[in-house]
Parts: sequence; structure tokens; C-alpha cells
Amino acid sequence: MDADANMPPMSRPPIEVPFTLNGMEVTVSIDPAERLLDTLRYRLGMTGSKEGCGEGECGACTVHVDDIPVNSCLIPTYQVRNAQVRTIESIDPSDVGALLSSGATQCGACTPGVVMTAVWVREHPELLETHTLRELMAGNLCRCTGYDGIIDGVRRSLDEGQP
Ligand code: FES
Ligand code: FES
Repeated sequence: MDADANMPPMSRPPIEVPFTLNGMEVTVSIDPAERLLDTLRYRLGMTGSKEGCGEGECGACTVHVDDIPVNSCLIPTYQVRNAQVRTIESIDPSDVGALLSSGATQCGACTPGVVMTAVWVREHPELLETHTLRELMAGNLCRCTGYDGIIDGVRRSLDEGQP
């Protein structure tokens, strides 16, 4: 697939990387050093994952790779060869009602990453036997809300079976 104009020109011969994106098989032709976040946003049009810090600190770019939340700004795309990648676009907006109505969002920059981590926690409730919700959400930074709204919203959404 072609990249959009935001992608820098390739400096090396491209490589082909097949993977599964939100249940669909895709193959991208990429610069070997390309970040997964850029592949998703600029080559595949999955712009829901946001770039905050670009350094693995904020979690705004969180996606799932083989059912593990990762910072897509740190992952070279070649590492997801044949993997299952899941982005915020796979989440039904009607499923985030509890989170969105709890004061968990202001500017919204962190929200896609927060939702992806919350979905992961919901799908792995055993994690709450050994970790607090705040610990599990610690990789998602928010500069707006002070976290109480996020934690309350995620807790309510877990109680209601929503991400
Ligand atoms: S943009 Fe990836 S962790 Fe901040
Ligand atoms: S709502 Fe603005 S960074 Fe979280």
C-alpha cells in the first residue's frame, strides 16, 4: 500500500511485512526502520492511535500485538510480521460509554491508548488479582484529567462489561 505524504521517503530498499490488522490480513512494503505507529497511521489509515511523546513514555500510541499492549512508537513494523495487531479502530464506540461519561476524557489525546489498555484489562480480569487497576493503567499518561476520572471510568466499564 502507498504511504501518505506524511511519511518520509524510504532511505533503504523496502521489505514486505505481512500481519493481521483488526482481523484482516494486510501486507505492507516498508522502510526496514519504519515504526509500527507510522505504518498504522500513514500507510494504513489507522489514525486512531496517537503520537504523544514518541519515546515510549505516554502510552497514547498503545495497540495490542498478539494480545499484549505495546507502545507502537517503539516497535519496528518488521517485528509484527505474522502477528495479530489490534488498534482502537477495532473497538465499537458504543462500548466505551462508561469511560467517556466518567470525566475520563478532556483533550482526548490519551483516550485511544487508555481504551486499549482498559480493553486488555477487561479481557484479562485475572490481572486484577495481582495488580491494582492504577498499576495496570500506569503506562497511559494523561496531562488533563488527574487520573481519578480515568480510573473511575475504567472501573465502571469493567463492572458493566464495557471496555
Ligand atoms: S507516543 Fe508512544 S508512548 Fe508516547
Ligand atoms: S484527556 Fe488530555 S491527555 Fe488525557
